[in-house]
Amino acid sequence: MTRKILVTSALPYANGAIHLGHLIEHIQTDIWVRFQNLRGHECYYVCADDTHGTPIMLRAQNEGISPEDLIARVHDEHLRDFTGFHVHYDSYHSTHSEENREFSALVYRKLRDAGLIERKTIEQYYDESQQLFLPDRFIKGQCPRCGAADQYGDNCEVCGATYSPTDLINPVSALSGTKPVRRHSEHYFFRLGECGDFLREWTRAGHLQREASNKLDEWFTAGLQNWDISRDAPYFGFEIPDAPGKYFYVWLDAPIGYMASFQHLARQKGLNFDDWWQADSDTELYHFIGKDILYFHALFWPAMLHFSGHRTPDNIFVHGFLTVNGAKMSKSRGTFITASSYLDSGLNPEYLRYYFASKLNGSMEDIDLNLDDFVARVNSDLVGKFVNIASRTAGFIQQRFDGKLSASLPDTPLLSDMQQAADSIADAYQQLDYGRAIRDIMHLTDRANQYVNDHKPWEIAKQAEKDAELHEICSVSLNLFRLLTLYLKPVLPQLAIDAEQFLSIAPLRWQDAQTLLSEHHILPYRHLMARVDSKLVANMLAANVTQSTATSTTNTTTTPIDATSKAISPKATAPTTMTNDTTTATTTATTTATTTATTISIDDFSKIDLRIARIVNAEHVEGAEKLLRLSLDIGEGNPRQVFAGIKSAYDPASLIGRLTVMVANLTPRKMKFGLSEGMVLAASGDAPGLFLLSPDNGAQPGMRVK
Ligand code: 2FM
Ligand code: ZN
Repeated sequence: MTRKILVTSALPYANGAIHLGHLIEHIQTDIWVRFQNLRGHECYYVCADDTHGTPIMLRAQNEGISPEDLIARVHDEHLRDFTGFHVHYDSYHSTHSEENREFSALVYRKLRDAGLIERKTIEQYYDESQQLFLPDRFIKGQCPRCGAADQYGDNCEVCGATYSPTDLINPVSALSGTKPVRRHSEHYFFRLGECGDFLREWTRAGHLQREASNKLDEWFTAGLQNWDISRDAPYFGFEIPDAPGKYFYVWLDAPIGYMASFQHLARQKGLNFDDWWQADSDTELYHFIGKDILYFHALFWPAMLHFSGHRTPDNIFVHGFLTVNGAKMSKSRGTFITASSYLDSGLNPEYLRYYFASKLNGSMEDIDLNLDDFVARVNSDLVGKFVNIASRTAGFIQQRFDGKLSASLPDTPLLSDMQQAADSIADAYQQLDYGRAIRDIMHLTDRANQYVNDHKPWEIAKQAEKDAELHEICSVSLNLFRLLTLYLKPVLPQLAIDAEQFLSIAPLRWQDAQTLLSEHHILPYRHLMARVDSKLVANMLAANVTQSTATSTTNTTTTPIDATSKAISPKATAPTTMTNDTTTATTTATTTATTTATTISIDDFSKIDLRIARIVNAEHVEGAEKLLRLSLDIGEGNPRQVFAGIKSAYDPASLIGRLTVMVANLTPRKMKFGLSEGMVLAASGDAPGLFLLSPDNGAQPGMRVK
């Protein structure tokens, strides 16, 4: 029976680059979807960028562009990165879309009409200078428990305490460095507490892995808290239909983005949306997520769906966090690896797909990418074993048999074993136990190589009278190779295409395991996969090492723009902290000066044209909250115009006349307010404040800094 299956991965935030933490999930999902389609099911994979919220709004401000422009750019970058890893979506949409606006309003109205929305006035910190209510991660202060300085408003990284921002001692706005004030505001809450009976039943009805159900039991025991779903203006998001000035909290419309992305696809393909989302739908729905967002997907989301009259997911597949070389991904060690740095290093994306597949087993355990093991395993399994089967035997078929496989194949147990393995390998893929699938496939690959070793075609080839035997041995080998290609196809889609081309066959489907190739012309063999070059791995790591010693400032502040995930975590409602800490607050909005661990050459350094500049004018930029327009004299006649995100730290008048350091050969950048023709350098650290660099007395505008 053809199943109708809809699959999603978590929607990446639109304010950061795709990294390995995203990739493990999207590759895991993509493998499953490809497998379902190979089986002949109608399976769609939808995703989108998660575009709303304060951090995205502020990042756009810092870049001097509109949030719409920012999310459009990031959307393209994200899709490019995922596509680079052969992750194929039927729709990669945006939560900032008309479809999502409509569904968010619809779900909200249904919940409201069911009596599940309530209003309550709460007290929050407000930054008067920025005129903004501050999310927890934008407030810093002393931990109320251990007294550690410089802790965020939701938990202490020193002693692990969780608390409210209002508990912090000496709170400071991380946006402006000013002391925030307490302000009252009416918020909208989803009455999750009323959904307990439904949720207890739903979460125990086989929709979750056992580990996930256990986690939920903890949350039920702690008690379901009503959920604050509104935020005050200014906020980048959707205004709540009956509440002017109030916006849906990003996490309300994010999962609804799954529906919106599907609707986008449905319109293109002529699918009926309701068939897939109505309460009694007979289609299947699966969400792949990381364990840090289980609370949202296993409690809020099913409740939102059910009480708004929609179907609920069949299952939520939760994976663990990714570690690299046994430790949390780290910017200073270069293991916070972005997708683009991997691709730019020249490493084949299928190496990573294969390695992740070999480590994934459908549990919530963390997964380690050990880079030495990565190189060794890919070289041994894919190049040394799998591809080797074809490369050892295809030449004889070309040279001795005119490129044609033999008419008959000997009755070898290996061929039939290999065909029969299709079911158990399929079962492993279906269960998300890709590790078992790969182990089984590699066991068969070893046997195939053993077959070639035992039959020694290179020796038989020397005996003219054994032509028929040689023909059969090589034909068996290439049939084994074809079956292995099929079994690996969900993991290695590009290699499968190349192998199908070499074998001159139509795209393989799972049912093709039941057939064999005989009397069939193949094309000359071309090498299908090169060995992993460990130098490329080292280069990739070097490219990811970030040291936050100096902050280059064109249009940047020290805003903790990447603090997204912490800002939206369910906090006290989710008793166990589970963070992959992929989003720390140390990254500045735009251009953090980076140096690589392996150091750069003097040639690299000399490419940067650093000059002493005199600030001949400095002024506010209308419509830009963070930027100052600087005119910089570097002794070339006309001053340069540079937009610098230093407004929070400097009164423009105080800057006029002083000397600083600028990067003079940066590609000019078109901003909403005009052309920025360089960058000034400023230092920043964890504590608030920005400090423009200045030369010692005697330096003159235009001097080179070396
Ligand atoms: O944690 C995150 O990265 C979120 N952007 C995931 C959202 S998934 C879904 F609910 F939209
Ligand atoms: Zn503490």
